[in-house]
Amino acid sequence: MEIITSIQEMQKRIQQLKSDGKTIGFVPTMGFLHEGHLTLVEKAREKADLVVMSIFVNPLQFGPNEDFDRYPRDIERDEKLASEANVDLLFYPTVDEMYKSKHTFKVTVQDKVNILCGSKRPGHFDGVATVLIKLFNIVQPTYAFFGMKDAQQVAIVSSLITEFNFPIELVPVETVREVDGLAKSSRNVYLTESERKEAVAISQSLKLAGRLIQGGEENPLEIQKRMETHIMEHTSAEIDYIEIYSFPDLKTVTSISGLVLIAVAIRFTNVRLIDNMTFDV
Ligand code: PAF
Repeated sequence: MEIITSIQEMQKRIQQLKSDGKTIGFVPTMGFLHEGHLTLVEKAREKADLVVMSIFVNPLQFGPNEDFDRYPRDIERDEKLASEANVDLLFYPTVDEMYKSKHTFKVTVQDKVNILCGSKRPGHFDGVATVLIKLFNIVQPTYAFFGMKDAQQVAIVSSLITEFNFPIELVPVETVREVDGLAKSSRNVYLTESERKEAVAISQSLKLAGRLIQGGEENPLEIQKRMETHIMEHTSAEIDYIEIYSFPDLKTVTSISGLVLIAVAIRFTNVRLIDNMTFDV
């Protein structure tokens, strides 16, 4: 596996690979890799000639009271995992390398953003969009792979690719789960032992929603209420939101029909966890 830290060198290398006719599968990450990321790499391997992964903890997408400094980092372990997963090229720039140029422009996401995590994290998706515009221009991928764990991100990236005319195919990849159903996340390490046990209630509440829909329940408010009760009865966490939208346009629905996204965020002592499922009705 080749490791590149300079943008200029990366662009030169990509140009070479593209002139050899290679297709590029891109897996952007913030590191501290887990099985979820490695599944994205696996999907990229299946579809593209070469897999490029980026590891960059992007300060622009963290709010002032968020966990940028505390975000888990372990580049040696990440390099080993990426190399074992057969990543061909690892792009690992410093913050200075990515943001040393002037900030003449500010990217603002104005639709699909004031809901779900976007409403709790002002500016978060502006930061995500900024870094992705840069990474897409640096890596120039044929395909870009994103986990459905962050479904709002998938919906926003889909608009970003369309509206800025990136010749990139977005490939959403299903959430990878622990045996008990908890969605894999780098932040799960912050759960206490008892919270880890309780956290299974998140995916259970989503499965409960699925059963209600299958049973003919069409009222989103009723589904939200049942999920809320399940989480409150089985965890010590605080519910941040339980929301239901059409997908990928993320509009409010008054009755369950078509492709709907049901998303949950809950707050434990030291960590906020998110999860979601989509249902096609
Ligand atoms: O999903 C993430 O890990 C990040 O938001 C991304 C896409 C790597 C951009 O920093």
